[in-house]
Parts: sequence; C-alpha cells; structure tokens
Amino acid sequence: MIEQQIKSAIRDIHDFPKPGIIFKDITPILKDPVLCDAISTAFLDKIKDMQIDAVAGIESRGFLFGLTMATKLGVPFIPVRKAGKLPYSVNQKIYELEYGTATIEIHTDAFEPGNRILIHDDLLATGGTVTATSELIKEMGGHVAGFSFVVGLSFLKGLEKISAISDNIVVLADY
Ligand code: PRP
Ligand code: MG
Repeated sequence: MIEQQIKSAIRDIHDFPKPGIIFKDITPILKDPVLCDAISTAFLDKIKDMQIDAVAGIESRGFLFGLTMATKLGVPFIPVRKAGKLPYSVNQKIYELEYGTATIEIHTDAFEPGNRILIHDDLLATGGTVTATSELIKEMGGHVAGFSFVVGLSFLKGLEKISAISDNIVVLADY
C-alpha cells in the first residue's frame, strides 16, 4: 500500500531546521524510481475525477511531483515561488508565519482566468502556504480545483484550514 511505502522511505530528522522540530525528509523517496512512479500513479488515480486545467507546485519540494503530475495529465505546470525568484512580471501574496511573514509569487501570465488549478506540495503542515497560494490564484481569476500532498501532518490542523477552500484534498501519507 502506497501509504506504508512512503512512510517506510521517509526519514525523521530531529532538530532540523530548528531545535524541537522533527523534519520529514522525503529525499530517500527520490532515490527510488519505482516508488516515485507509484506515487505519481496514486496521485493520478485519486485526482482522476477532478477537472484540472493546470497544476501549481510550491517551491521547492512541491515542484517534484507537481511537474510529474502536470506532465502526465497533459496540462501546464505553474511554479509558485518565494519572493524574487521568478524573472518575469509577478503577482504576489504576503502571508503570516508563526514569526514574521513570507511572500509567494506567480508569473502574471502563468494561467488563464477561469482555469481550474490543482495546488500541489510535498507536505501539509499548518496549511498557511497553500492557503496563501489559493488566495493568490483566486485574486488572479483562477479556481482551486483541489489540493494534493505526499505527506500530511494532521496534528497541525492544516486539513481543517484548507477544507474551507476545497473538499478535494488528497494526502497519500497521513501522520
Ligand atoms: C515546507 C513544506 C511546505 C510547507 C508546509 O516548505 O515543503 O511547502 O513548509 O508548511 P505549512 O503548511 O505550515 O505552510 P519549506 O518552507 O520548508 O520550503 P522548501 O519546500 O523549499 O524546503
Ligand atoms: Mg515547501
């Protein structure tokens, strides 16, 4: 089962990036092409009934399976990047973190108004990043078709936060 395969591959790194945090390191998954393919297949199976015009992947680890899914679906990939990384004109969203703020950006021509966009990231924690991404996509005239994540940390309540935006939420491995 895909959830067990993912959990077996992920390694916990204690006190990274800060003391007290247990970081879910997905890099061992990337060493295993059979598992990567199984993850892509599992995502495609679970999103097959969603109407998706493009996939938005969040820098940086959301690029990994986000691009794979978009390519397999035959739709455009939209990179959602941290401030100052995209070269063309951008729309941006500033959002609150536990301490301070963060900024995400999308190219102004990344998609067409009315497009239905799947938002993808490797991991759902508090849901702050994908909520800000949803708001930016809506401000640009897009619709949120749903969300997909390799890993969800349920105890951080991100799922509750984003279920107000869309019911279409795929989490392959839940903790
Ligand atoms: C991590 C993770 C998600 C985000 C989840 O990214 O990859 O993008 O945090 O947190 P949230 O649900 O509380 O918003 P990180 O900022 O570590 O950057 P990276 O993907 O570039 O390593
Ligand atoms: Mg990230």
